[in-house]
Amino acid sequence: MKVLAPALASLATFTLCNANVVAIPRHSSAETYAVDALAAPLAAIKRGLPNSPSGGYSPASVPCPANRPTIRNADSLSANETAWLELRRNATVDPMISWLSRMNISGFDASTYINGIRNNATALPNIGLAVSGGGYRALMNGAGFLAAADNRTSNATNTGQIGGLLQASTYVAGLSGGGWLVGSIYTNNFSSVEDLRDGSKGSDVWHFSNNILEGPDGDGIQLLSTADYWTTLANEVSSKEDAGFNTSITDYWGRALSFQLVNATDGGPAYTFSSIALQENFASGSIPMPFLVSDSRAPYTTIVSLNSTVFEFSPFELGSWDPTTYAFAPLQYIGSNFSAGVVPSDEECIEGFDQAGFVMGTSSTLFNEVLIELNASSVPTVVQNVLNSILSDIGFDNNDIAQYQPNPFYHFNNATNRNANSTELTLVDGGEDGQNIPLYPLIQPIRQVDVIFAVDSSADTDNHWPNGTSLVATYQRSLNATVENGTAFPSIPDQNTFVNLGLNNHPTFFGCNTSNLTGPAPLIVYIPNAPYITQSNVSTYDLEYIDTQRNLIIQNGYEVATLANATLDSQWPTCMACAVLSRSFEKTGTTVPTACQQCFDRYCWNGTVDSSTPGSYEPTFKVGEISGAGNVRVGTLVSVAAVIVAMLLV
Ligand SMILES: *[C@@H]1O[C@H](CO)[C@@H](O)[C@H](O)[C@H]1NC(C)=O
Ligand SMILES: *[C@@H]1O[C@H](CO)[C@@H](O)[C@H](O)[C@H]1NC(C)=O
Ligand SMILES: *[C@@H]1O[C@H](CO)[C@@H](O)[C@H](O)[C@H]1NC(C)=O
Ligand SMILES: *[C@@H]1O[C@H](CO)[C@@H](O)[C@H](O)[C@H]1NC(C)=O
Ligand SMILES: *[C@@H]1O[C@H](CO)[C@@H](O)[C@H](O)[C@H]1NC(C)=O
Ligand SMILES: *[C@@H]1O[C@H](CO)[C@@H](O)[C@H](O)[C@H]1NC(C)=O
Ligand SMILES: *[C@@H]1O[C@H](CO)[C@@H](O)[C@H](O)[C@H]1NC(C)=O
Ligand SMILES: *[C@@H]1O[C@H](CO)[C@@H](O)[C@H](O)[C@H]1NC(C)=O
Ligand SMILES: *[C@@H]1O[C@H](CO)[C@@H](O)[C@H](O)[C@H]1NC(C)=O
Ligand SMILES: *[C@@H]1O[C@H](CO)[C@@H](O)[C@H](O)[C@H]1NC(C)=O
Ligand SMILES: *[C@@H]1O[C@H](CO)[C@@H](O)[C@H](O)[C@H]1NC(C)=O
Ligand SMILES: *[C@@H]1O[C@H](CO)[C@@H](O)[C@H](O)[C@H]1NC(C)=O
Repeated sequence: MKVLAPALASLATFTLCNANVVAIPRHSSAETYAVDALAAPLAAIKRGLPNSPSGGYSPASVPCPANRPTIRNADSLSANETAWLELRRNATVDPMISWLSRMNISGFDASTYINGIRNNATALPNIGLAVSGGGYRALMNGAGFLAAADNRTSNATNTGQIGGLLQASTYVAGLSGGGWLVGSIYTNNFSSVEDLRDGSKGSDVWHFSNNILEGPDGDGIQLLSTADYWTTLANEVSSKEDAGFNTSITDYWGRALSFQLVNATDGGPAYTFSSIALQENFASGSIPMPFLVSDSRAPYTTIVSLNSTVFEFSPFELGSWDPTTYAFAPLQYIGSNFSAGVVPSDEECIEGFDQAGFVMGTSSTLFNEVLIELNASSVPTVVQNVLNSILSDIGFDNNDIAQYQPNPFYHFNNATNRNANSTELTLVDGGEDGQNIPLYPLIQPIRQVDVIFAVDSSADTDNHWPNGTSLVATYQRSLNATVENGTAFPSIPDQNTFVNLGLNNHPTFFGCNTSNLTGPAPLIVYIPNAPYITQSNVSTYDLEYIDTQRNLIIQNGYEVATLANATLDSQWPTCMACAVLSRSFEKTGTTVPTACQQCFDRYCWNGTVDSSTPGSYEPTFKVGEISGAGNVRVGTLVSVAAVIVAMLLV
């Protein structure tokens, strides 16, 4: 949509003369530009690569490789993933032995057991991690979990800790705010949460006290005034328009997010998601495979339902296992003009469309939700009215989506693909169908995942705590013969039961008893956000956090993951290990160790249902509040409003 770019360029001026309304202009210094200059070559070597052929945000044409890219049916894993899995599954064996041994299952020799099945991919536990959406709350709570699971985190391999689970995992999926977390870790060369949290001189990553609507601050690499910041964003998005690609509000959103998520000048405009596959640690199978999840939304509609087609991004591909689209495109080439699965012989290929920030933005197109939220918020009515009309206009123009045009699946699978006759593919926030935990890539039977640690930071209740809604949605979808296409999912009770039994307040295992399953399905270890040391239920629409509050919420997520360093249950690390081994024990006919049986008695949902309407859910601190979070800065929504109004006024 052409109008937005010039509007944003002019916004720069608007911002300057209304500094007190929108933002405070910031200054720059020669020193920071010097840091920038020094950092550039390092960045090229060390991270997700800035390999867009245009050298910037815009995609550009390249000669097609001799083996021209094609769209494939979803009847198998890609050759790339299959080859990668050979490496990765082997590379998880030693970390798994080390981790299981530390989790210390009484009377069980993890080393002997795993060594006995190390060459048998079916019997060897196959672990997936999934971090839900929910804006910065989800990023931070999810980060606490990943920090706890990461053996590189300080003290995470001490007794009572669970560090090393990440190193033993095959897949890590993220969606929306959880997608920012996963995307930020992977585009920064699999940085640890601690490193991203603590930052480094000259880096702006994870500086959440800088509202993304205002731009970076302080001693960041790209010290721009807010005006320069928006001009930069607008110019980048214009460059994509000028190259002939339709853009949408998601392009600005993704660019703005990138300043906080990608540790490179201007948020790394030339970084692509497919470049993750070229990183040495990924290519060698040394780290898990990341996925981001999005939903497709039919053009000119606002409804995203459970039967919407779900799409996954991996470093290799974009596509869907659903019986509708049922196809995958090579991610590196998704900007190419595919028709009926091939790039016409007279056309060049396009690279750089899968810009990393754009992919993260696609999974988190929150603008629909902002619209809904505004009705209930304390934004002044006059601003609300203007915003509502603007946002519904954008909706009407079909522009609050991420536009994938050309549609890689054009004229492919004509009979079933809902977008087969459309030149554009419109993708939205992966949580909009209610499946806010990105389980989709991990429950595909072809991937044979045995256990999924499902970290839920959803804001389901009035107070922004989860209540199982996301698991209920995935369960419902698995029951619909028209859309499930072979996916099975453990039985999940209703949300009232979650609240009444406290299943949303402490970890619970679903699907322990495989004889109750309708098909092969992983064990789900559900890990809901709950207050341990701070109120981690901040609103999805709070866009600013001081460092103290950020760190406390990350720490809270760490306590959630470890049950307060195993102080709430000294057997919790053992129980996590038992969850990992559960399917494997069954496949190999191994007697379940007594310690594990006790864990399953304690953590497996046993089928009890209590669907009576619960009272208001007001959880109390499981450990005790650590003070220092301060007040969330007010006015975030007002500044969102101001920027959007500004965009439309000029
Ligand atoms: C973490 O695990 C990896 C893979 O097993 C190992 O190479 C590395 O040395 C471990 N790091 C720490 C700090 O334990
Ligand atoms: C480990 O690698 C070998 C050799 O490539 C392969 O045969 C085996 O299947 C792999 N193991 C797993 C668990 O994937
Ligand atoms: C790690 O443990 C040591 C010793 O208990 C403690 O002094 C230190 O503060 C801990 N570090 C972190 C980051 O928790
Ligand atoms: C950011 O990039 C710089 C320059 O490459 C590097 O020195 C620093 O460690 C990075 N910081 C983080 C938090 O990744
Ligand atoms: C199952 O999905 C189909 C196709 O999308 C839809 O028409 C139908 O309403 C769904 N059924 C249920 C029970 O939700
Ligand atoms: C999806 O299901 C809804 C009912 O839940 C139905 O109204 C709609 O037509 C279905 N869409 C498609 C494309 O099947
Ligand atoms: C999944 O959908 C595809 C395409 O519609 C179909 O060919 C395939 O048989 C389905 N698989 C299962 C297990 O239902
Ligand atoms: C496999 O991965 C490589 C490296 O990312 C890429 O060049 C190639 O196009 C991929 N092939 C397919 C079919 O996706
Ligand atoms: C799909 O339909 C279009 C339009 O009718 C046609 O041009 C195209 O060849 C068809 N695709 C396939 C794979 O048959
Ligand atoms: C696309 O167009 C072709 C040819 O007109 C038609 O056969 C097919 O049903 C259409 N597909 C969809 C999903 O509308
Ligand atoms: C659970 O969350 C859903 C989604 O927000 C909400 O509609 C429902 O009322 C909640 N139920 C309970 C018991 O919290
Ligand atoms: C791998 O393990 C499975 C499950 O225990 C077993 O059925 C299969 O025979 C094993 N395969 C090999 C080659 O040992």
